[in-house]
Amino acid sequence: MGDSEKNFSYLDMLASTGYARHIGGKAATDILIEKAKINPDMKVLDVGCGIGKTSCRLAGDHGCAVTGIDIMPAMVEKSSALAKKLRLDGKAKFLQGDARELPFEDNSFDAVFVESVTIFVEDVAKAISEYRRVVKPGGIVCDNEVCITRASNEKLKDDIKDLEEIFNAFSSKTSQGYMTYEDWKETFKKHFPTVEASHYVADPQVELEAKKADGMGTFLISTLKTMWLYATNPEAKRIIDTTQKMYKYVGHFGYGLFVCRK
Ligand SMILES: C[S@@+](CC[C@H](N)C(=O)[O-])C[C@H]1O[C@@H](n2cnc3c(N)ncnc32)[C@H](O)[C@@H]1O
Repeated sequence: MGDSEKNFSYLDMLASTGYARHIGGKAATDILIEKAKINPDMKVLDVGCGIGKTSCRLAGDHGCAVTGIDIMPAMVEKSSALAKKLRLDGKAKFLQGDARELPFEDNSFDAVFVESVTIFVEDVAKAISEYRRVVKPGGIVCDNEVCITRASNEKLKDDIKDLEEIFNAFSSKTSQGYMTYEDWKETFKKHFPTVEASHYVADPQVELEAKKADGMGTFLISTLKTMWLYATNPEAKRIIDTTQKMYKYVGHFGYGLFVCRK
């Protein structure tokens, strides 16, 4: 295996397949949109915007001015192309940047959306302090992160090695190791005076339907690209095999939604 393959990560896989999503799909985003009381007068930042789905929904369905930022140039290109295709390029702008060092002035946005991104950052506290810095006083930070609860962690204590392997394969690099729902909640509470949190268990059928809801074309192309990577790149194969083990733990794996007010 060459060096480029050895260093291949889950995020590289997302970039190669041109596909990114968050657990819980549109329904999870809808909850955050409602909690944040998104309206057309708002300026919203979408951190780790992926292929731009939430950014374009916020701009198209809710009329806000959206800035999407992602660390991977391929994702920025995809997002810009989607906004252009939907004729939202006047309302949704995209740029490359890092959640740990957001290139914006303090108090710039009414709301910050972060869907399945902070888990990829080693210094979680640094990223969260950046979200807090750029949101206006009284503004909202909405974050969705893959996690299991402490109760599940306790029930699965004989499988901890397996769980660590799964979170590692998802490039979960937080310096605290993999974080439970309660760890996330406590971390957000250190940064914000008000945090509303809830945990949802993921349903594999709902996740599959959510993938298809992005359009059969997108679903088929990304499935074929994933199959190609599986067949040709041993590290991609290892990542896919390991992340699939998540389905052994149905009823435990899920996501936390954290709605934080500055
Ligand atoms: C699982 S995808 C989620 C994409 C999108 N938020 C969604 O819900 O569809 C994670 C995204 O976070 C981006 N990302 C990872 N680390 C980042 C960082 N430090 N700063 C900005 N974006 C990052 C990745 O490039 C990827 O597009």
